[in-house]
Amino acid sequence: MHIPRGKVTALIGPMGGGKSTTLRLMGGQSRAWSGQMLFDGQDLGPMNQKQLYAVRRRMGMLFQFGALFADMSVFENVAFPLREHTDLPEALIRDIVLMKLNAVGLRNARELMPSEVSGGMAKRIGIARAIALDPELLMYDEPFSGLDPISLRVAARLIRQLNDAMGLTSIFASHELKETLAIADHVVILDNGKVAFQGSVEEVQASADPLVFQYVNERPDGPVRFHYPAAPIEEDFGIRAAAAASIRDS
Ligand SMILES: Nc1ncnc2c1ncn2[C@@H]1O[C@H](COP(=O)(O)OP(=O)(O)OP(=O)(O)O)[C@@H](O)[C@H]1O
Ligand SMILES: [Mg+2]
Repeated sequence: MHIPRGKVTALIGPMGGGKSTTLRLMGGQSRAWSGQMLFDGQDLGPMNQKQLYAVRRRMGMLFQFGALFADMSVFENVAFPLREHTDLPEALIRDIVLMKLNAVGLRNARELMPSEVSGGMAKRIGIARAIALDPELLMYDEPFSGLDPISLRVAARLIRQLNDAMGLTSIFASHELKETLAIADHVVILDNGKVAFQGSVEEVQASADPLVFQYVNERPDGPVRFHYPAAPIEEDFGIRAAAAASIRDS
């Protein structure tokens, strides 16, 4: 697949399709068993730890559930990558942290601890931390999960605005179809570890491909499989075909 520079790309598709895996490959947390993962033309596969760190410094990641450090204040969470990767003076760190918190509307939440913020706030704090180092690529794993309809829309708008205001390249994995299609430029549908489709939002919506149609129209029946790949029922239960059929149909 190709993630266009400067655009917002949505990674969608049924659960287990490979969205999180793709983001982990892009961040270098997982290495590809085959094929290549190129970031700005550089192959992440053969990189050593030092090279990987240098590349990661140009990426921001919003983890699922925010993954804030529970024993650090909101301020310290956002300051963390700056302290870890730079030698900036304290006054400058303070200004950058407040600027990033301001960008997500939470400048005044800086003294709170993660246990004192709501789920939606935690996501936004995670976003502030992800943009602390002014990344070129911003990745979000399920930025909308567990949010109320208003917070969800706020988060979606934020992804779009940050991308355009900071000149980023953004990619997010999501199950929220409506907001996703509202903010994305480019859509990649992953199913069963393969790219089932990639194209513009208009192309997704117009696609006659059975899987794309099933997914975009939220149909329970279609080519998307329900079962994790398994041996035939006959084999697992040690029964004959007729009995297997009754399990299959139940
Ligand atoms: N390290 C691994 N080794 C083997 N299989 C793996 C590994 N990591 C993930 N998988 C498998 O790859 C498939 C894709 O998983 P992934 O987490 O990327 O799905 P996803 O699209 O993010 O799904 P969801 O929408 O449920 O979050 C799953 O079947 C999973 O079990
Ligand atoms: Mg996932």
